[in-house]
Amino acid sequence: MAIRNILTEDKDGDFLHKKCRAVEKFDKRLAVLLDDMAETLHKANGVGLAAIQVGVLRRAVVIDIGQGVMELVNPVVVEQSGEQESMEGCLSIPGKWGMTKRPKHVKVRAQDRNGKAFEYEGDDLLATASCHEIDHLDGILFLSHVTRMLTEEELKKMSSAEGK
Ligand code: CO
Repeated sequence: MAIRNILTEDKDGDFLHKKCRAVEKFDKRLAVLLDDMAETLHKANGVGLAAIQVGVLRRAVVIDIGQGVMELVNPVVVEQSGEQESMEGCLSIPGKWGMTKRPKHVKVRAQDRNGKAFEYEGDDLLATASCHEIDHLDGILFLSHVTRMLTEEELKKMSSAEGK
């Protein structure tokens, strides 16, 4: 396993807006990519990471909302309902946070690293993280869903709260 470099919007904005291709080969290369993405996600203390953020234009995502790593290959939101407003950030947009509107509940269909199809349903943070990561695969950043960015003052309060 290896830590990969996370692309950021200020330097790699054009790349991060590209559309990713479907994963077609469920091989060792994909397994290594997913392992590396999980390690990179944990190192960065993130909730989710898409392959495009480490420079790979394939539809693969890892999510960890604190209950272990979920690996999503070729994920699609097949159902969504409700609405929630929450605070969102992105490992590719460091230091910026905003309030976003997203579905409260989603059902996602995806494949695992061996190509086996599965579905899951998620609410709240898992719904937000799923939508955020699947957006990345179409070159969409969370900024498109922001209703208001957090101010410098709010960010300072957040980091002092985290310090405790
Ligand atoms: Co992101």
